[in-house]
Amino acid sequence: MKPLFYFILTAGLSVFIAGGEKDFVDSNAGFARQQLKHMLKDTESRERLAFPRTTNKEGKMITTSMYDWTPGFFPGSLWYAYEQTKDPVWQREAVKWTEKLEPLKDFTQHHDLGFMMYCSYGNAYRLTGNKTYRDILIQGARSLSTRFNPVTRSIKSWNAFKSWHGQQMYYYPVIIDNLMNLELLFFASRETGDTSFRHIAVSHAETAMHNQVRPDYSSYHVVCYDTTNGKVLARETAQGYADNSTWSRGQAWGIYGFTMIYRETHDPRFLKTAAGMADWFLDNKNLPEDKVPYWDFNAEEAGYQPGIRSNANRVKTKYRDVSAAAIVSSALFELSGYVDKSKGEGYRKAAIAILHSLASAAYRAPEGKNGNFILMHSVGSIPHNTEIDVPLVYADYYFMEALERYKASLD
Ligand code: GLY
Repeated sequence: MKPLFYFILTAGLSVFIAGGEKDFVDSNAGFARQQLKHMLKDTESRERLAFPRTTNKEGKMITTSMYDWTPGFFPGSLWYAYEQTKDPVWQREAVKWTEKLEPLKDFTQHHDLGFMMYCSYGNAYRLTGNKTYRDILIQGARSLSTRFNPVTRSIKSWNAFKSWHGQQMYYYPVIIDNLMNLELLFFASRETGDTSFRHIAVSHAETAMHNQVRPDYSSYHVVCYDTTNGKVLARETAQGYADNSTWSRGQAWGIYGFTMIYRETHDPRFLKTAAGMADWFLDNKNLPEDKVPYWDFNAEEAGYQPGIRSNANRVKTKYRDVSAAAIVSSALFELSGYVDKSKGEGYRKAAIAILHSLASAAYRAPEGKNGNFILMHSVGSIPHNTEIDVPLVYADYYFMEALERYKASLD
């Protein structure tokens, strides 16, 4: 039997550790808000419909139109700032930036509507209960559903994809990222009682699980389908190093996506897939000590060859991708609650370790620098020679979300 002073000591120690970690979360959330304040100031001189995305060579903010895949992340981060503070000033900014996106509810030109609308309007509805936001989200889900084909049992990601190997075009490409968009469909099904949204989401998830995830739980980025019979025509990469490699952010989308799909379905096949993908990521010999992955797990490895047109042939530096780490950290906080205690504790420890790495001077920007983004050192797409070793708005969004999830677990 352990002596009483042992229990007093360990109880005291865990309160002390929890207190320290609360301070860690609060100071990082405070820093994030400070950067967001600077960024809001910077946006004042921009066009009304310009959404923060990354920086240029001079370290100044670059924006995109609302029709790119990332406009929802800045409003989403503003909603997290509001959630942290309940300050109406943050709410006003979050509302302003969210409502700029209203035309997206009818957008059907690519699959990213889940990212664009659920991070913005989804958080808006969660935190305000405003029914107008609910209706906009449901209309967005209808628009996303138009890209589903019952023959491929998938939502088409892009209208076309050109192989890095030559001139071959594919007209039904599905990328692993697309799993993230399903959250909008699950939401719409719950809100309306219309099971067709859910049917589309589950069908897509099953197809991705069979065709996009390899037997060892690594992942293909792009799977191209034949719409006449639903057969797979090709498995390639767009943003990864090689067709048979594992693009780190793709694996991150898979871990987060299948965790969310398990939350929505309670189907153990999806939990097994989420955990398998997480284990593959965390146990990988190529994952650096600080758990911030290289942009691709197999870059520069023997047995992996980029397509002839890919810029990956010319990049020898193994850049880190902070965005992948932030997504995985957030996902692991959730996944840790769905598995048995000891496995869950492992995922939670990894999620916390990643957060601490990201909050270190190696990855967190000095205040007022980095185009006022929070985190440095992400990668958009090396094959396309775009956004290499830069801040990215979605790295910041998932960092803030991971902080929120960590904080909730400490309460
Ligand atoms: N969804 C696009 C990307 O992760 O770059």
